[in-house]
Amino acid sequence: MRNTKSARIVPPLAVASVLAMALSACGGGGNGGGGGGQDGGDAAANLDGRGPITYVQGKDNSNVVRPLIEKWNAAHPDEKVTFKEQTDEADQQHDDLVQNFQAKNANYDVMSVDVVWTAEFAAKGWLQPLKDKMALDTNGVLDAVVDSATYNGTLYAAPQHSDGGMLYYRKDLVPTPPKTWDEMMSMCSIAKQNNMGCYAGQHSKYEGLTVNASEAINSFGGKIVDDAGKTTVNSPEAKEGLGKLAEAYKDGNIPTEAITFTEEEGRNAFQSGKLLFHRNWPYVYKLATTEGSSKVKDKLGLAPLPGKDGPGASSLGGHNVGMSVYSKHKATALDFLKFIISEETQRWYVTQGSLAPALEKLYDDPELVKKLPYLTVLKTSIENAVPRPVTPFYPGVTKAIQDNAYAAMKGEKTVDAAVSDMQSAMEAAGAK
Ligand code: GLC
Repeated sequence: MRNTKSARIVPPLAVASVLAMALSACGGGGNGGGGGGQDGGDAAANLDGRGPITYVQGKDNSNVVRPLIEKWNAAHPDEKVTFKEQTDEADQQHDDLVQNFQAKNANYDVMSVDVVWTAEFAAKGWLQPLKDKMALDTNGVLDAVVDSATYNGTLYAAPQHSDGGMLYYRKDLVPTPPKTWDEMMSMCSIAKQNNMGCYAGQHSKYEGLTVNASEAINSFGGKIVDDAGKTTVNSPEAKEGLGKLAEAYKDGNIPTEAITFTEEEGRNAFQSGKLLFHRNWPYVYKLATTEGSSKVKDKLGLAPLPGKDGPGASSLGGHNVGMSVYSKHKATALDFLKFIISEETQRWYVTQGSLAPALEKLYDDPELVKKLPYLTVLKTSIENAVPRPVTPFYPGVTKAIQDNAYAAMKGEKTVDAAVSDMQSAMEAAGAK
């Protein structure tokens, strides 16, 4: 009792309210920001509460969630989980969570938290700290994943699944995948001969573009922020990397329509045979190799993302399951979080959804690797992945990256101006 009480009252709430004020002062017009006045809930309340809970997550494209919840519900008839499914677009998911936290909705008990939202939600006091009575064992979980669920030394979410970008390519048309970006561009003549688009990732103006622009920048030796979290994006390396994306869009190697692509549009284009190369997350592997409508079932190859002189660097993605401080049934919620990181659930994520497990040992499990060869490429992608900036001001930071990357790709700004504006807009949003 004494522990949880002091943990509740001393630093987190004080920090949270200062940050909430700062956020509403700085975040004008930002992504789902504004409103102001929101404070954290009571992290010491309802710790023993048991009963039905709601789990909130983006669209379940791979049908992973429903069977999992059915299994849980069969074993917990008095503590059933209801699935609240959001859209499949990251920014809409974020904004829906923010609105429900601001409304202190006790019925948003547990939710899938994108790795880039942890700092913001924790700093605002919306996520239950997973310590003391609510502690969770993260033994065997990849370090990068634990870090992505941790803010200021406290764990705020249960590791669910990681994510690393990979290059999907047509192995029937490209016998050896390109190792570098320039090599990939030189293979675009193959796409032309076959009347198809050459390359696309996620280029619509949303979180996915932040992911893709960061990958271009990091893969050419730039750094959005340095190891101390200071904004360092205005560099010749970053200009070279972003310049590659802008150039590819201008000369048509990235097809015009790809400027509207999120993950699902890109996957559909690749699966229907319209793209030679496609950057996407591992969930695509299962769907592209099994869906009835897929035209690339046995023509699909996988390789690391191409970089400057060799493999590039993915942005680290992934989701963890957080618990709302406003939940009335936190004891049930904690059991559900434990169920999420159990080995059984983690295996299910891999076999059913070809997701990136949070448990390290599954990447080297001989049976899984034999069945799902994507695991080897994925492990390397995650090992070399670069986290996006960790900051409670992330909504403004990602907006600075997206807006400027988009303007550079569309030719509305020079790449030099876009990178320099990115730096100043990140700083104005509150980044160091
Ligand atoms: C994936 C990643 C997530 C990222 C999002 C962008 O869901 O796991 O980290 O922010 O894609 O669209």
